Formats: sequence, structure tokens, C-alpha cells
Amino acid sequence: MLSDRRSFLEKMSQAGALSLLAGTSAFASNTEEKNHFTAGPYLQNMDTDQVTIMWITSKNCFSWVEYGEGNYAIHKAFAYHNGLIEANNRIHKITLPNLKPGSAHKYKIVSTEITGFKGSKVEFGETIAGAMLGFKTPAASEDEVKFVIFNDIHDRPQIIPQLLYRYGYTGNVRDYDFVVFNGDCFDWVTEEQQLIDHLIKPTTDIFSSEYPFILTQGNHECRGSFSRHIPEYFAYPENKFYYAFTRGPVRFVILDSGEDKADDNVEYGGLTAFDRYRENQAKWLEKEVAGDEFKKADFRVVLIHISPYHSGDWHGTLHGQKVFGPILNKAKVDIQISGHTHRYMTHDADDTHNYPIVIGGGPIEGNRTLIKVHATRKELNLKMIRDDGEVVGKFQIPRKTKI
Ligand SMILES: [Fe+2]
Repeated sequence: MLSDRRSFLEKMSQAGALSLLAGTSAFASNTEEKNHFTAGPYLQNMDTDQVTIMWITSKNCFSWVEYGEGNYAIHKAFAYHNGLIEANNRIHKITLPNLKPGSAHKYKIVSTEITGFKGSKVEFGETIAGAMLGFKTPAASEDEVKFVIFNDIHDRPQIIPQLLYRYGYTGNVRDYDFVVFNGDCFDWVTEEQQLIDHLIKPTTDIFSSEYPFILTQGNHECRGSFSRHIPEYFAYPENKFYYAFTRGPVRFVILDSGEDKADDNVEYGGLTAFDRYRENQAKWLEKEVAGDEFKKADFRVVLIHISPYHSGDWHGTLHGQKVFGPILNKAKVDIQISGHTHRYMTHDADDTHNYPIVIGGGPIEGNRTLIKVHATRKELNLKMIRDDGEVVGKFQIPRKTKI
């Protein structure tokens, strides 16, 4: 793997040097290797009537998705911005709109290489296409939802197949509609290949070409020279790491706890503004918990990497507690699911937080957990399973009277 990566980087730097002479981009001029898919497709941002399909190509392309309900991919979707179709790029993020809720769909990714521009005229190369794949949109009135949660993988991608194959299925039946990575998938992020090898590929190997996943930002995603590029590789409603969505009986609220130390800590080189960020999120959270979708949901689940409670007394925890705590305590949250401490733990409601909190463990063997949740209209069941199969946390929460 490392030697592959080294030879890839060497090739690219040679191509870059040649392209500087030729006045074209490295990707356009490298003809040693044919264009190919380097990652994906993987699903993001699934809703009842839309889903975003993502993939990466080795060279710059114009890309689209052929898709349709049932067995026929009769529609074609591409992305565009300000009237220009997204093209001459490698990371492809295409949303399929106006899908029929609760229906099976087929799709296929297609990329045509862009070999260059002659003045304003585009020059196209070969077209490559993926296999025909499928997904099912959730029904608008779905009565149940199942999901599993990883946290604190810390650049140990083998955890994904190990825990998912062991505990993500009952017999051959998949126990999840989507998968959450609740922060700290990496120690710090330095290059695209790390995102591919340590997160994207392990998911596409198992499920993400047909079922979506969510990456919640942890404090370690905030670190490293490539961290500012992470949002390019995933899709979020309104392109923010904090948001809410409804799936079946559950309203999900995803918060970004940010970094664990104060913004003026020497480690961040003066380049973070997490206090302001958390304060702005709190303003948004206040509106979200006052909204109908939140209030009317059968269950309200909060996902946040650093729990504002039971996560030590570092600045990030305490500031999160100060800005999010009072809002969450007023909101009739059913459960909050977190990571970060590396010590799995469950906490019943107490006099500081009036809802239960589950903190997953990791990343060392014997301490890693997979959290499984199954919610119906009447009951939410959560099980936290340690890597040896022992259930180390359990909640059975009946639906509260509607607000
Ligand atoms: Fe963390």
C-alpha cells in the first residue's frame, strides 16, 4: 500500500513538473495511467426523495449518474453551480432529485475524462462507467429505523469490517439502514488517500454503495494539513457539520463539538474559532428544538462527538456544556450518543442532564464498541456491544407523551 502510494505520488510529481512546462494541470497531462475510479460510489445524505452519490476518479472528468425507479436507469443527473455543470474535477458529488419515497432505485456512475482545454474548447477523453447498483429511499411514514454507530476508530480501518460483520447483522439480515461514524476516524488528516483507505473504501467494501453513512466531525478531524478539505468528500444538508433530519420515528440532531482545547492553545497555531462556532451552533440548536419536526418526533436523538457531560473538564467539554447544555436539557431529548473519551460508559439522567448519555469506547482491542439502535413508533432500543460480543450498555426507552 505504502509503496503503491509512493509510486503514485512520484508519478504525480513527475506529471506536475511536465505539466508546468506544458502549461496544463497535472491531472490533464498524465497519460501514463488510464483514468479509473479510485473510490466509491458511496451514498450520502439520504432522504425520502433524494440521495447524493459520491465517487472519486484518478483524472479530471465530467461526471453524471444514470438512475431510475425499479430496474431502469432512464434519468441522468449531474451537478451544476451558477449555470456551469461541475466538471474538470475528481471528487464527484451528485444529488439525485425528485425520487419516489419508499422505492427501490437503480443507478450507475459515469465519468468522461477531460483531457484539456484548447482555449475555451473542452477536449474529452474516454468514458468509464461503474456497475449498476441499487438503493431504496425511505418511506415518508417509515415506522422504524435501525442504525449502528462507530466512534474513535483513529486510523484503524480494520475496526469497520471487524465490528460490522460480527455485530451489524442478525444472521444474514442487515441491522442498519445507515451507519454513523461519530467522530475521530483519524488521528489527523494529511491526504486524500488516508480518507479513502481509512474510511471511504472500508465502507464501500461492505455497504455504502447501497446504504448511506454519516461522518460526524470529531476533534481529530479538525487536525492536520488536509482537514480543511474533508467537507469536499462528504455531503451534508446545507454543507454544515451540524444539522438535523428525520428518519422514521426519530429526529436526529447532529452537533459538532469542535476541538477539545481552547482556541488560543499553541497546538492550533491561532487558526481555530471553535468558541464562536459552538455559540453559532447553539443559536441554530435553539431554533431546531423549537421546530415542529423536532417537537412532533416520536424520539429525539442527539449525536455529538464530545459529550458536554462526563467527558472531563477540558475547555471543549465545558464550553459545549455551557452553550448546548441548557438547550438540550429543555428539549426533551431521548438519548445522546457520543465518543471521545475512549472509555465506553452509559450515564442515566442526573441533576446535570435530564436525558441518558451513551459514550462508545475505542480504539484499542477490548475497548472498541459498536452501538446499535432500533427505534419503532413506540420504543427506542439501544445496545452497546464490545468487540468481544459482551453487551456493555443497554437502554429501552418508551415514547414520551408528545410535547
Ligand atoms: Fe475525540
